[in-house]
Amino acid sequence: MTPPVHIGIIMDGNNRWARQRLLPREAGHRAGVESIRRVAEACETAGVRVLTVYGFSTENWARPSDEVAFLMQLFEETIPREVPELAERGIELRFSGRIEELSPSLQQLMRDANLKTRDNAHAVLNIAVNYGGRSEIVDAIRAMARAGADLRTLDEAAVSDFLYTQGLPDPDLIIRTAGEMRLSNFLLWQSAYAEFYSTPTLWPDFGEADLEQALVAYQSRVRRFGARPEEEVSHRARQVNG
Ligand code: IPE
Ligand code: IPE
Ligand code: MG
Repeated sequence: MTPPVHIGIIMDGNNRWARQRLLPREAGHRAGVESIRRVAEACETAGVRVLTVYGFSTENWARPSDEVAFLMQLFEETIPREVPELAERGIELRFSGRIEELSPSLQQLMRDANLKTRDNAHAVLNIAVNYGGRSEIVDAIRAMARAGADLRTLDEAAVSDFLYTQGLPDPDLIIRTAGEMRLSNFLLWQSAYAEFYSTPTLWPDFGEADLEQALVAYQSRVRRFGARPEEEVSHRARQVNG
């Protein structure tokens, strides 16, 4: 069973999880961080090389300011706390999004975290923060213009090279928790041919068994990439050749 090389997760349902327990929203977000830890480990065990988790979208600034402030604070607390162990396990911590719009202290923590984890890395934990698929494409176009790229001869590989995810393979599987069936501006370019899996499980409850279920579902998918599936091609060949 070959696992997906890259999994993207739209971690949703922190708030619903807290509400069900009559807990403040913050408790849901904190429990969500614990899930990232657990799921990142389970992905590593399963042989997944890249895990991208959607931590904060460009649209999430529209939330109440105390919730936004809490989430930023949670990033500030969590990143330095997790770095030593990630470095030890050979996991590179990357960040994708409009990082330059975050507070200078958070930007510094993110740069440090990447510097400390990027050598000898065999796996990548990529956190999408202030991330939007559309702004990523806009940023790529701006960066190409700045680099003086010739837009008349542009190809898909060149665009991919200007995205935040530069150097990472496209995701094979996108998981969304809490039952929603939308992309919410996540990895729009990169997930052109990803398999989509949605589970009703709320993100703070998502664990190893849920990941296993998603992987089993993924294994049962036939990825055609627009072509005829293998079996059908060989069946037709048999018919034609007698
Ligand atoms: C996901 O949980 C976390 C973020 C978007 C930061 P939500 O906070 O969206 O939880 P629900 O979807 O309202 O339950
Ligand atoms: C998507 O979740 C963003 C993140 C997981 C960070 P949202 O809860 O913000 O998405 P919508 O608003 O339900 O589409
Ligand atoms: Mg939500």
